[in-house]
Amino acid sequence: MIRVKCAVIGTGIFGEVHVHTYKKYEKAELVKICDINEKRAKEISEKYEVEYTTDYKEIANDNEIEAVSVCTPDFAHKEIVCEMLKNGKNVLVEKPMATSVEDAESMVEEAKKSNKILMTDFHNRFNPYFVNIKESFDKGEVGDISFIYTRLSDRIDVPLKWFSWSEKSGPHWFLLPHLVDLVCWFANSLPKKIFAIGKKGVLSNWGINTYDTVSAILDFESFYATIETSWIIPESWPCIVDFYFKLEGSKGRLIVDMNEQVNKISSDIKKGIFFPMIIGYFPIYNKPFGFATLPIQHFIDCIYENKKPLITIEDGLNNVKIIEKIVSSIEKGEIVKFI
Ligand SMILES: NC(=O)c1ccc[n+]([C@@H]2O[C@H](COP(=O)([O-])OP(=O)(O)OC[C@H]3O[C@@H](n4cnc5c(N)ncnc54)[C@H](O)[C@@H]3O)[C@@H](O)[C@H]2O)c1
Repeated sequence: MIRVKCAVIGTGIFGEVHVHTYKKYEKAELVKICDINEKRAKEISEKYEVEYTTDYKEIANDNEIEAVSVCTPDFAHKEIVCEMLKNGKNVLVEKPMATSVEDAESMVEEAKKSNKILMTDFHNRFNPYFVNIKESFDKGEVGDISFIYTRLSDRIDVPLKWFSWSEKSGPHWFLLPHLVDLVCWFANSLPKKIFAIGKKGVLSNWGINTYDTVSAILDFESFYATIETSWIIPESWPCIVDFYFKLEGSKGRLIVDMNEQVNKISSDIKKGIFFPMIIGYFPIYNKPFGFATLPIQHFIDCIYENKKPLITIEDGLNNVKIIEKIVSSIEKGEIVKFI
């Protein structure tokens, strides 16, 4: 079997999921990884037995490489993605595609010129809970959408301890892409109007000038969706996320409640109760397990079988456009038109 030669740029927390998936996927051959932080690049290179570089141009110039995952921080996707596309690579970019419409549009332009894949990694479309309710929805089991309420929030340790770049993102760029994608996926359309409110204070007191919380109403005319996100859930919360989705339909309702995980650990030694979230990614006896590995495999399958990804270029671009409008609505304090 000829395998798709691939590389990962940005091998931090989530880049490692891509590295592990490619390393173990039978249709992929992980050729090289890249991180500007040499210590991290070396660590991942040794763990997964793969060559490393600290210069992404080395990957762009490697004619053998056909597929590249770009897993750099939210604000640092454009230059790398464009360079890869210019050099004929297919690209899987982490969500959000970009943190500005301007950046996203240059990436889309480059993808169209190159005729290569540019897919944004909206992994909840591969989350079995959402795939299951979407199937029910598509069969007409709950009728038409009346409204959707959904929230995805992180514990405050994510912006405070995980990243040095939190101020250049925020819960709106880091978390809302998932909710916006889910809502548009169910709606199979785009909102007409948007109203949003956001508050700052807690994170800015820690020196991180970004939103603590954002709530938005997306008006699709025949229904509306309320989406909310927070980056300030207390560290004592047992799960790293608070994730809930509810669709009220004309004939029924669909709910995904990921707020409590199936597994619970209560520990006197670690002092607390913990609901570890393992459904997305969890290595089992060295093999990557979890729905977050599936879009990465799907990306390789698309190259292998010469087919179009389930997540289109427009899905990635419209997602950025909607979030930019959410920010615009917060700043203006008024309803903004989307289309
Ligand atoms: N952490 C999560 O739970 C998660 C989940 C899904 C998606 N994502 C997305 O994945 C992307 C990466 O997030 P993360 O959590 O892995 O962040 P991270 O900070 O852990 O990792 C980013 C890595 O990119 C490297 N990097 C930065 N600029 C670079 C450059 N020019 N060339 C090469 N390497 C560079 C950094 O050194 C770092 O190791 C983000 O867009 C994020 O939204 C993260």
